[in-house]
Amino acid sequence: MTAASRSPKDFFRPLAVGAPTPLREIPARPSRAIHFFDPSNPKMAAKVPDMVGTVDVLLGNLEDAIKADNKEAAREGLVRIAQETDFGPTQLWTRINALDSPWVLDDLTTLVPAIGDKLDVIMVPKVQGAEDIHYVDRILAQLEAKAGLEKPILVHAILETARGVANVEEICGASPRMQGLSLGPADLAADRRMKTTRVGGGHPGYLVREDPPRLDGVANLEASRATYQQDLWHYTIARMVDACAMHGIYPYYGPFGDISDTTACEDQFRNAFLLGCVGTWSLHPKQIAIANRVFSPSVEDVAHARRVVAAMGDGTGAVMLDGKMEDDASLKQCLVMVELAEQLAA
Ligand code: GLV
Ligand code: MG
Repeated sequence: MTAASRSPKDFFRPLAVGAPTPLREIPARPSRAIHFFDPSNPKMAAKVPDMVGTVDVLLGNLEDAIKADNKEAAREGLVRIAQETDFGPTQLWTRINALDSPWVLDDLTTLVPAIGDKLDVIMVPKVQGAEDIHYVDRILAQLEAKAGLEKPILVHAILETARGVANVEEICGASPRMQGLSLGPADLAADRRMKTTRVGGGHPGYLVREDPPRLDGVANLEASRATYQQDLWHYTIARMVDACAMHGIYPYYGPFGDISDTTACEDQFRNAFLLGCVGTWSLHPKQIAIANRVFSPSVEDVAHARRVVAAMGDGTGAVMLDGKMEDDASLKQCLVMVELAEQLAA
């Protein structure tokens, strides 16, 4: 059998030495952009049917950003939209209220019987540990059984508390319903007492400065004033990616609040993609296009990956391609790229 004739999945079998942990049997449909809408806002709700097919996930938000007075209207609006809309290839998700809020039980007991057959994933905010996932898992099991639902609703946790980050591995493994995790940079910043006032993204104060001018001249003077932002979220994203990979579920960036700064948004999304995230949130339609572009492997990268797969024959040993050494490990990276491209094209 050659590397090319094997499906990428063959390399992920537990017996393949050093193969990436297999993804769980979770929906393989891509979800590069999770687009948030407020179901209590009639203007936003009216746009939902037109967005079907243009985005991988539409998420009816019930939690933060929805005023306390509108919680019920948002819940009812989501039920109405879900019942009236054919979502076709687009997944329908919701973000329920936090588990310590007065609204969450009503969210679950209303949504599951009414639209449980249409809901692919429930996003749970401010998850602190496995116990939070167990709680949601048990309630969902009861409500699904009562409603006669055959397909289990999956669970996605937001990583947005210091305790949640400390418990990230157990959160990922807490239930077979776990679909993935998102970074929640705004709540996480507050919980960690970071000195920021933003929703995601970098910060001009978190920087490195270029080397000072050389003693032998002024040529470097301008350059010495140059500063470069570092990534505030690198540690958390890396931890999240490792925990998700270990449990075979999907990691996502989260919200990027400065809608006007499409360059910084793209930079954050691209860093997350390169580190292993499969998608992100979208808070405005213009972020959907950015996410779809960034979280799809480029034509060049996929073509290169296919060349490596072809050159690697039975998948063992080493070959030289364009002056670079490729071996079993670079082949596995290439197979991840090819597999993602095939999932997105399916
Ligand atoms: C998202 O919920 C965040 O807090 O960033
Ligand atoms: Mg939050």
